Amino acid sequence: MNEALSMSVPGIRPYALSLSINDRAAIKSQRPRCLWLTGLSGAGKSTLANALELQLNELGRHTFVLDGDNLRAGLCRDLGMGAECRRENIRRMAEVARLMVDAGLIVIVAAISPFRAERDAARRLFAEGDFIEVHVSTSFAVCAQRDPKGLYRAARQGRIKDFTGIDSPYEAPLCAECEIDTQTLEMADACRRLSGLLLNK
Ligand code: ADX
Repeated sequence: MNEALSMSVPGIRPYALSLSINDRAAIKSQRPRCLWLTGLSGAGKSTLANALELQLNELGRHTFVLDGDNLRAGLCRDLGMGAECRRENIRRMAEVARLMVDAGLIVIVAAISPFRAERDAARRLFAEGDFIEVHVSTSFAVCAQRDPKGLYRAARQGRIKDFTGIDSPYEAPLCAECEIDTQTLEMADACRRLSGLLLNK
C-alpha cells in the first residue's frame, strides 16, 4: 500500500459529539449491533446476509449489509487479494460497520475476512456484546463444488493467485458466537437463529 496513505496526521483529535449511540438508537427503538459473517468464498455469506436483512426489515428494523464484493466495487476498489490488502479491506469494513452502528443501525458484514487477528481487531471496535461473530462454516469441499463464479476451478488451474483455502489461508474462528453450515441448515432456520441472536430472543 502507498506509504503516504498510511501516515498519521498531527493535531487530529476526535471531537466529542453530544449525541451518543443510545440517543440515536432510541429513535429507532432497536439495539444497534454488528453481525459479522466470516467463511470461505461460496459458503453462503452474501445469501444469508441478504435473507437476514429482508427478515429484519419486515420486523421493522433499520439495517445495512456490508458485503465484501460490493465494497470492493467502490470504497475498497484499490485493494487486491494479497494478505496486506485483505487486512486493510477488513479494517475498512470494520470501521464502516462501527460508524453505521454508531448511527443506530443493525449492520450485517459478509466477507471472507480470513484472518483471526483482523476479526479480533474488528470486535474491539464495539462495546461488549455488540459484535456477533458468525462462522459460516460450509466446508471447503462443498464451496469448491458449488463454485458459483468458477473461481475454485481457476485457482486450481493456477489462473488466480492467493485464493482462500487453496494458496491463501483461512483461519476459522476459535470462539464465534454462532456457527452456520449452509449445507446442513435451511436458510430460513439460519435466519431465525441469527435474528434471534441479534434481537436477543
Ligand atoms: S476478504 O478476504 O478481503 O475478506 P472479500 O470477502 O472482500 O475477501 O471478497 C472476496 C470475494 O472476491 C469473493 O466473493 C470471491 O468471489 C472474490 N475473489 C476473487 N479473488 C479471490 C481470491 N483470491 N480469494 C478469495 N476470493 C476471491
